[in-house]
Amino acid sequence: MKLMLLYLLCLTSIGPVMVSSQRISHILILQNKTWADAQDYCRTLYIDLTTAKSLKSLLTVKNLLALRSITGPVWMGLNLNLDTWRWSFNGRLLNDITLRMWGAGEPNNYMGHEWCGAIDGYGLWYDTTCTSLKISICYSASDPNMYVGVTVNQNWTNAQAYCRQWYTDLASPFNSTENSMVQNISLVQGYSWFGLSRDTWRWVDGTKVPEYLWQYPLPDNAVPQENCGTLNGGKLDDKQCTNKYYFICDAFPLVKYVVMLHVKSDQSVFDPAVQSAMLLQIKQKLDGGLKVYWRVQADGKIFQKKTLSYRFAPAYFTVCEQYCM
Ligand SMILES: *[C@@H]1O[C@H](CO)[C@@H](O)[C@H](O)[C@H]1NC(C)=O
Ligand SMILES: *[C@@H]1O[C@H](CO)[C@@H](O)[C@H](O)[C@H]1NC(C)=O
Ligand SMILES: *[C@@H]1O[C@H](CO)[C@@H](O)[C@H](O)[C@H]1NC(C)=O
Ligand SMILES: *[C@@H]1O[C@H](CO)[C@@H](O)[C@H](O)[C@H]1NC(C)=O
Repeated sequence: MKLMLLYLLCLTSIGPVMVSSQRISHILILQNKTWADAQDYCRTLYIDLTTAKSLKSLLTVKNLLALRSITGPVWMGLNLNLDTWRWSFNGRLLNDITLRMWGAGEPNNYMGHEWCGAIDGYGLWYDTTCTSLKISICYSASDPNMYVGVTVNQNWTNAQAYCRQWYTDLASPFNSTENSMVQNISLVQGYSWFGLSRDTWRWVDGTKVPEYLWQYPLPDNAVPQENCGTLNGGKLDDKQCTNKYYFICDAFPLVKYVVMLHVKSDQSVFDPAVQSAMLLQIKQKLDGGLKVYWRVQADGKIFQKKTLSYRFAPAYFTVCEQYCM
């Protein structure tokens, strides 16, 4: 009974150390793969393609590449899903309706920053940069004409806020009749913001890639369909997903803990059967698929006899078996 109490004390003392093993390490894979194949590879063997959600973690990944003298491009875990166009009113996905009125070659994400929609006098839609200032068309649920022109020049976000404050929302036509009604207003007042917008870049875990991690003009969509992210020359850079590059996976680092166990007991602790039973108890206490084994000392034994009365002084150190950055 006393023996068991001792293990428990000892194991409790390593609890906080196990938590720190949740730290993520980055592993550079020197195989040229498409972005999707690279992601499959990382998901199969590790966690996923790497995310670097702050300037600090981006620097960590840059250092990993610098260590290997690799400038890139190297795939990272971020991409752009263009299938996310939705209407401001009701948040309805464009994919859920049949109406498509894109102008020729639109949406083209020209120069990489076009995730807001505008409509011209032909009733045709264009993706354009949300920061540009334009007049807009609001939807008004209470107005018999349904749509109202607003000739204040503002960016898309402010146009949306304006429509939501004074009317119902930005104009969000669901069928061709409604689109013609919106068109009728742009015919009079010109090219205008309306209710289409889409998602921007996301990390593979679904979180948004903040603007400040990019160095303008990146992402630039320099070649059409640059919808996957790399680290290239120290910068995040958008590339075509079918290109084949080296890539970086995120992994849980392999960490080994050595725990010293002081035990007060009679001779039975030298009995292999007792040792096995102790190890089993420790494993049950730890669970979670950890490998636990006795370390055999230079003299071939596990326990050393101490003549002093027992003192309880656990000691541990960690060994990281991969890149621990
Ligand atoms: C990966 O592609 C690069 C660029 O095409 C090439 O220089 C490199 O040798 C390739 N590496 C492997 C392992 O195939
Ligand atoms: C729109 O303009 C406001 C300031 O008027 C600014 O705070 C906001 O970031 C802008 N949004 C976009 C998408 O340009
Ligand atoms: C267009 O959509 C609106 C709202 O969803 C609906 O009330 C109207 O009947 C539709 N018109 C046609 C021609 O489908
Ligand atoms: C658009 O305006 C024209 C001319 O004023 C009008 O004949 C037509 O019915 C309007 N279309 C819609 C869908 O309201």
